[in-house]
Parts: sequence; C-alpha cells; structure tokens
Amino acid sequence: MRTALEVKGLTRRFGKTTAVDNATFEVSRGQILGFIGPNGAGKTTTMRICASLDLPDQGDVLIDGISVLDDPRLVRQRLGFMPDSYGAYSDTTIEEYLEFFARAYGLRGRDRRRMIDYVKDFTALGPLEGKLISALSKGMKQRLCLAKTLLHDPSILILDEPASGLDPHARVELRELVIALADLDKAIMISSHILTELSQVCSSVAVIEAGKIRATGTVEDILRSVESSYVEVFVRTLAPLEAVQRALLEEVGVRSVRRHKGGLMVELDGDEQALAGLVQVLVRRGLDPIEISPNVVDLEDVFLSLTEGQVQ
Ligand SMILES: Nc1ncnc2c1ncn2[C@@H]1O[C@H](COP(=O)(O)OP(=O)(O)O)[C@@H](O)[C@H]1O
Ligand SMILES: [Mg+2]
Repeated sequence: MRTALEVKGLTRRFGKTTAVDNATFEVSRGQILGFIGPNGAGKTTTMRICASLDLPDQGDVLIDGISVLDDPRLVRQRLGFMPDSYGAYSDTTIEEYLEFFARAYGLRGRDRRRMIDYVKDFTALGPLEGKLISALSKGMKQRLCLAKTLLHDPSILILDEPASGLDPHARVELRELVIALADLDKAIMISSHILTELSQVCSSVAVIEAGKIRATGTVEDILRSVESSYVEVFVRTLAPLEAVQRALLEEVGVRSVRRHKGGLMVELDGDEQALAGLVQVLVRRGLDPIEISPNVVDLEDVFLSLTEGQVQ
C-alpha cells in the first residue's frame, strides 16, 4: 500500500490548551480513514494543519512524501480540503460557484470546462446547475462543496464532518460518493463525532480524544481488541433469576450481572473462552439455560470504551 498522508508527532497548542498532542497516523491510497472523536477533540485542528492552513508547534505532515512545512504550495495541489463550514455565496448559482473556484485553482479553457462538467456529473448536480445556492438543501450544498473540493483533481481528500446535519438519505448519498472516490485510488480522511456515521465506509479508524490518538487500526483490529477484553452476554434460564445471579457472581471471570428484559446481562472478563465457560457453568449447576446470546460489540461501544467523553 502506498502511504499518501502521514501525520508524524503532530502537536498544536492554543495558549494553555493542547488541541493536538503528539498525534501520529497515516492513510494510504484507496483507503478511507475515519477520524473519530467527540467535539473539541482536535479533529479540525489536525485537518487544517494537514491542509497547510495552520502550522504545528511540533511534528510534521507528509503529503505524498512532501512536508506541509517545506512546500505548502505543492501540498495544496495534491490535496482537497472540505471544511466543516464554508462561506454563504447564496446569490450565486451552482455553475457560477464552480466556475469561480475553477478559475481560482488556475484551470483554463477546455480543462476548466471538462473538470466542471466532471465534478457536476460525479456529484449528480448537473440537472441543478442553474439553481441558486440559497435554494439548495443541506445535502445538495454538501455535494456542491465536495464538487468544489474535487475541481483540481486532488489525490488526497480531507473531509471535515461532511455528514453532519444531513438527513439519512443525503448521508447515504455522501457515503456512496466517498466510496467511489476511494475506488478512484484517492486517500481519504473523513472526520465525525458520530461513529456510526462512518463505520460502514472506513477501512481504518483513528480515535482522538483531548488531542491524543487513543487507537488506530482497521475497523476489525479495533473491534477485536475490545471484544477480547470483555464479553457481554444475555442469559435467560428456567431457574429463578436470583438463584442464577447468585451462582454466576461466585464464578471467576464474571464481572457483573444485572437484570435485563426478563433475563440477565452478564459481563465477563476475557474472550470467547470465558463465554464457553459461562455456558458450562449454567449447565453444570442445573440452571436450565434457554437463551445465551453474546452482545455483538459494535463500533459505537468501542468508541465509548476508548474515550471517556472528555471534552476540552
Ligand atoms: N483558533 C483557536 N484558538 C484557540 N483555541 C482553539 C482554536 N481552534 C481550536 N481551539 C481549541 O482546540 C481544541 C480542539 O478543537 P477542534 O480541533 O476544533 O476540535 P474538533 O474539531 O474535534 O471538535 C478545542 O479545545 C478548541 O477550543
Ligand atoms: Mg471540528
């Protein structure tokens, strides 16, 4: 895999606040990195530095091996940044807006026409080209902002909370566009404070909290690391719940037992081996289990277990 974006020991302070604290991670071509963290975690600050719009106190970011500190102009040619909020331009049409930015990017003549048509087509905005921006829905505005970000055909994309405030339908559309861009071999970094928004798109995630990277890896790696540290199991038995509860609390490896929807929710220390042990205990003690269902750990649980809800 070819690394396209490398964040190396990045630190950025604002007065006494360390917004980004020695952050390190990377994104390869064709990969979608979910950059997840609660509000105030340092996502926007990190992304702005990656896009050469701000300078770090320490560390560096390499875009295709080029340092944002050494050559920000070259970096900007390779990289497209979609900020979390952008100017209004409400009295311009889609066509005028794209034309303006295409000129600002220095695109000329046939190249400019070709790229404007391409991004309009890609984001399905063609039929709306004459519409005023003020008349667009939030989802359409986001697609337009993405279209603008693609005008200079960047190979690396940094998208800051693009799904925020979108309805479910617009979110699915955006997700499909992001996947299509990764299929074009672009490296994509996309942030969100809502993990489920990204879990279906990203190939890897970096979890940030209070400026620190808490975890990085593929979605599977991170799920596995959490799964192996505890297993939560829903248990129903024919035996009375109090008896089962008492019996289970005597077992090594049972962390907690609580009432849940006509049964018990049992939290185990350990992995699937511990789950197999629980099944044996229920049978051996004659507690007549009729349902044993391990709770599937999803990314939302992982997020909650990795972060403590700290907001700066
Ligand atoms: N320009 C700035 N001046 C002072 N503090 C800032 C500035 N930008 C961000 N911060 C602080 O840095 C921290 C991280 O902010 P930010 O990167 O915007 O987080 P996120 O995008 O994850 O919500 C917050 O505590 C925020 O208040
Ligand atoms: Mg932000």
